[in-house]
Amino acid sequence: MSYRLDKYLALAGIGTRSEVKAFLKKGMVTVDGQLEKKPERKISGEEIIHFQGREICYEEFRYLMLHKPAGVVTATRDQKEQTVMDLITLPGKKDLFPVGRLDKDTEGLLLITNDGELAHRLLSPKKHVDKCYFARVEGPITEEHIQSFAKGLDIGDDTPTLPARLRILSSGEISEVEVTIQEGRYHQIKRMFEAVGSSVCYLKRLSMGSLVLDENLEKGGFRRLTGQEIAALQKGNREETDNREVCG
Ligand code: URA
Repeated sequence: MSYRLDKYLALAGIGTRSEVKAFLKKGMVTVDGQLEKKPERKISGEEIIHFQGREICYEEFRYLMLHKPAGVVTATRDQKEQTVMDLITLPGKKDLFPVGRLDKDTEGLLLITNDGELAHRLLSPKKHVDKCYFARVEGPITEEHIQSFAKGLDIGDDTPTLPARLRILSSGEISEVEVTIQEGRYHQIKRMFEAVGSSVCYLKRLSMGSLVLDENLEKGGFRRLTGQEIAALQKGNREETDNREVCG
């Protein structure tokens, strides 16, 4: 990263480029403890910058994990409904967006970011990124269902679903299962269970690639990803890309 100081401060939300220039002139900014008045000073991201004594940190990319509750729509804005972005009580969130869509009644892991490239790679079915869900479904679930999910199901689209993993946690009048898919078609899990004569009563996303829902997050809560979580997501993505290139 390399920015002019005035651009860096403007990106950090201190003010417009011209306001920032005026603040610099007035001596309101220090870089690594030294007064800095030059707007053209280069910033690499390693420096410690203060504005009026307050440390300023601008991150180009931001990554948040939201524990989506039921009853909230996955959208950046909506005329009538509460959206997942309404739950993100952070300043400067206007460039953030949810990665993929969970239905209004689905709970669980939702990644919120401004990193479009990462989002694209996580969502592309060609990248085969696992999305794992816990589901409660109607009726007994058997080995036969496992086979059907593994083969791919006709859910009324042009092509059958990609192979999916079904793990039975309990089977009965209401069964509990874990399902892992590599796509994100509209209502995909619900339609997959309908295709085998069942229906979903409860759905929660547990993970997306290497990113696992933090069960300490209460429903509706969010937190920043740790450096390790971000690195793992990016590494996962790079490996997917590299493998595909090697395999053609
Ligand atoms: N599949 C569904 O049916 N709904 C979701 O919210 C996510 C996956």
